Amino acid sequence: VTLPAAWYTEPAQLEREHEAIFARAWQYAGRAAAVAQPGDFLCADAGRVPVVVVRGRDGALRAFANVCRHRGHAVASGEGTCTTLQCPYHAWTYDLDGTLRAVPRAEREPELDLAGVALPPLSVAEWGPFVFVNPDPEAPPLTDALGDLPEVLAQSGIDLGGLRHARRVEWTLEANWKVAIENYLECYHCPVAHPGLAELFDVSAGAYGLHQAETFSWQTGPLRERRPAGTFVDAGEIERAQWHWLWPSTTVNVEAGPQNLSIDAWIPDGPGRTRGVSDYFFGEAVPEALIDEVIGFSAEVGAQDAALVASVQRGLASGTLDHALLMPESERLVAHFQRLVADAVAAAPNR
Ligand code: FES
Ligand SMILES: [Fe+2]
Repeated sequence: VTLPAAWYTEPAQLEREHEAIFARAWQYAGRAAAVAQPGDFLCADAGRVPVVVVRGRDGALRAFANVCRHRGHAVASGEGTCTTLQCPYHAWTYDLDGTLRAVPRAEREPELDLAGVALPPLSVAEWGPFVFVNPDPEAPPLTDALGDLPEVLAQSGIDLGGLRHARRVEWTLEANWKVAIENYLECYHCPVAHPGLAELFDVSAGAYGLHQAETFSWQTGPLRERRPAGTFVDAGEIERAQWHWLWPSTTVNVEAGPQNLSIDAWIPDGPGRTRGVSDYFFGEAVPEALIDEVIGFSAEVGAQDAALVASVQRGLASGTLDHALLMPESERLVAHFQRLVADAVAAAPNR
């Protein structure tokens, strides 16, 4: 059986997951190229924590809670280059190392004690073209969380160093973040719900690969022998699809065809909603028309999944299902994910 249905609908459970999971996990934040130069910054969300990542004048990459110490407004938005982080609400101004540097009218407030006020530091690390953040300032290194994922990803034939960013797509799902991840983690539904995908990739139980490691899992979709001619899957050297999930909420997709990779951040937005950010990367030489085709394919599959997870969410909220049922073989990556969720929640100190 699955986790209790109530875990997918109750605000208190999401609260537990924020503390037990998202407050201490590495999550995809954005592109390393966006923060390559001193003063460059990018904003992201790590669970419910708004984050600003900034390259200091000393060259060090830092991340802070993007929450002004004055009254809580975000100090930065989007991406760009700056000399200081100045909150757009009342213009409290922070240095790139997070320390508070200027407060308008501070000289008229003799009772205001600003000693030690600074943006709270978080953990940040780069992996190839990606920046990851972890709200825990004492987090173990990103490389521990990644484990062998870089080697597994390399088996797909992707050259991380040769990728350039093409597009960012943002989306929302009317479903709990776990419903969304669980849908990602099985392709039992693919022959039924994704006819376009199933026409290109062999999603049969015998051919489709489900693989799991400690902190991640991945799926391999070989190309069908007989498939429609002239699609993107035949326009390059990548011979099969590889879809990776990294605990708790980052996914990395490589389709067959040209050098292509997308990375997604899945962000809980209340118990029944998930926000997502997808960054699409392609090899230098991949033409624009092919980029459109790959992104269009992924949008089509994504729209089908969005309808599936919204329906599941309504079912889980119906009060008629205490536990759902899992297929031990075809859905074993879902079971793996649920075990990690249950373990993390059980291990977290109770409030
Ligand atoms: S909330 Fe940032 S300056 Fe007031
Ligand atoms: Fe799907």
